[in-house]
Amino acid sequence: MNPTASLTADQPGLRFYPGYLDREAQAELLAAIRQVLTEAPLFTPRMPKSGRPFSVRMSNCGPFGWTSDEAGYRYSPNHPVTGRRWPPMPDALVAAWQELAEYPARPEACLINYYGTNAKMGLHQDRDEADFTAPVVSLSLGDSCLFRVGGMKRGGPTRSFRLNSGDALVLGGEARLAFHGVDRIQAGSSTLLAEGGRLNLTMRRVTRPRDKGIADWAAAAEVFHE
Ligand code: SIN
Ligand code: FE2
Repeated sequence: MNPTASLTADQPGLRFYPGYLDREAQAELLAAIRQVLTEAPLFTPRMPKSGRPFSVRMSNCGPFGWTSDEAGYRYSPNHPVTGRRWPPMPDALVAAWQELAEYPARPEACLINYYGTNAKMGLHQDRDEADFTAPVVSLSLGDSCLFRVGGMKRGGPTRSFRLNSGDALVLGGEARLAFHGVDRIQAGSSTLLAEGGRLNLTMRRVTRPRDKGIADWAAAAEVFHE
């Protein structure tokens, strides 16, 4: 059976769009992300408490960015090294969210993960956001990875499949809090990134649209429904 079909049929809320971006769209998005990274360079996040460095390097764009260090995981409006605001989210990312998220407000954070050949990410839930009714929308560029996804409980059954350059994956609905991670990068599987490795972009909603202090974002969200 096609593993993609069984994947989405078995797990409501998990939506997989293989080849969502064609090569040209991937190259355009990559150029926009490279521009973001000149303003907000990749940094090495550290584990809460232990301070152990992640193997993945990160940056963000949008009003909030996800960071981690000895003090814990959090969203912050500022880059942890430069102290500057994160650059705005490129239009191509907002457009993908608008098409895939099925959510009436704009994304507020896009985490940019860069995986070198030996980087991986352990199983975790994305749960630092205030609103789990908004999905997490993921786009992949560059080398393929072996992606692993399970259910809502740590230690439950998991399965793995390849995410290739241009693929989109949505963790929404019942799969919003599914455990997920990256087992390994398949070096040399894509020519998109000259330096090799994999970029993953995950858009998230951080606050609830009615939270105080985001009136401008709620207003901006209405743009989607004009
Ligand atoms: C993440 O869970 O933050 C990243 C997932 C991925 O790299 O595909
Ligand atoms: Fe995640």
